[in-house]
Amino acid sequence: MKRMQIKPGIDAVGAIDWDRRLFDSLIPLPDGTSYNSYLVRGSEKTALIDTVDPPMDMVLTGNLDDLKVDRIDYVICNHAEQDHAGSIPLILDLYPEAKVVCTPKCKGMLIDLLHLDEGVFMTVNDGDTLSLGNKTFEFIHAPWVHWPETMVCYLREDKILFSCDFFGSHLAQSALYVQDECQVYESAKRYFGEIMMPFRANIKKNMERLKAYSMEVIAPSHGPVYDRPQFILDAYRSWVYDEPRNMVLLPYVSMHGSTREMVDHMAGALIERGVNVRQFDLTVADPGKIAIALVDSATLVLGTCTVLGGAHPLAANVVFLANALRPNLKFAGIIGSFGWGGRTIEQITGMLTNIKPEVLPPVYIKGSPAEADFAALDALAETIAQKHRENGYK
Ligand code: FEO
Repeated sequence: MKRMQIKPGIDAVGAIDWDRRLFDSLIPLPDGTSYNSYLVRGSEKTALIDTVDPPMDMVLTGNLDDLKVDRIDYVICNHAEQDHAGSIPLILDLYPEAKVVCTPKCKGMLIDLLHLDEGVFMTVNDGDTLSLGNKTFEFIHAPWVHWPETMVCYLREDKILFSCDFFGSHLAQSALYVQDECQVYESAKRYFGEIMMPFRANIKKNMERLKAYSMEVIAPSHGPVYDRPQFILDAYRSWVYDEPRNMVLLPYVSMHGSTREMVDHMAGALIERGVNVRQFDLTVADPGKIAIALVDSATLVLGTCTVLGGAHPLAANVVFLANALRPNLKFAGIIGSFGWGGRTIEQITGMLTNIKPEVLPPVYIKGSPAEADFAALDALAETIAQKHRENGYK
């Protein structure tokens, strides 16, 4: 990635990672990602906001060379995770006069993760400011987006919010600004579902806090920069504040087809009753797509067979993931079949400890489904449709 100017004195100097396909050894990145770093040169001082993932540090240093940056006074670290903070040691080697500006909590984490010396830090409290001469940063502590130490910083004169992971998207693109809002919406929603959704209550508080700031640009640490901030602010408001939708997430795994037959019937029964369905075969499903569906769904209906006396491991995996992501699920059901017995129902319901949905009566049968079983699935679909209607889910 070549550096790109946002405004005079403000350049994007980070790296595009077109080829990365997995994050946290968990999250698929179908469209790559970027590690955005920004250089802000004031009339008296220069600041670098966040760095890049260490495997791409040469892109960052190359951009700084291109700009003939001979001094960095401050490295503002909004977040200690290594995809943004991991190249700070290299920057400090190249610019030994630089101070690392971060929250007190972030300082401790950077010492733990990067073994930085105490002396390199300048910690900032919520609301503190930092002058670069003709440009002024205000630091806004924004805990739990998505680690406890996170902050964002606001450049007052230019009305730019540097938001780090907050509002980010895993999307590699050559242009600096959002080109296709539909594409970015999908990437940002995937990012929200996978990274931010577990902290929705904290995100709400931070969204309220940001209402006081007039923003012309939001510059996150992943994905394109927003020159129309309202687009991503509106999207976040809907994901964070809105009630769930009239939607059932229907992930399933089937060994010999019985569970699959039940899932197909269930999907049809729900659709007939006006309920939207997102159905996923767990042997091939992209967890990111499931995370997106979890942002919206009011109900999870899991389709699982029983194997080795319990839930299929792929079914247990998706329930474990859903529970960890803490979506706004209100209802849960289990459908499927077993051969001779097992503890599938207890296992699955026992895993929903964070989200505590109302668990609907399961339709869990021995062998392959018969007429009475399809009728039971219809009854479950009717119950779900009715509950969605009663709650006004659209
Ligand atoms: Fe992009 Fe939480 O790091």
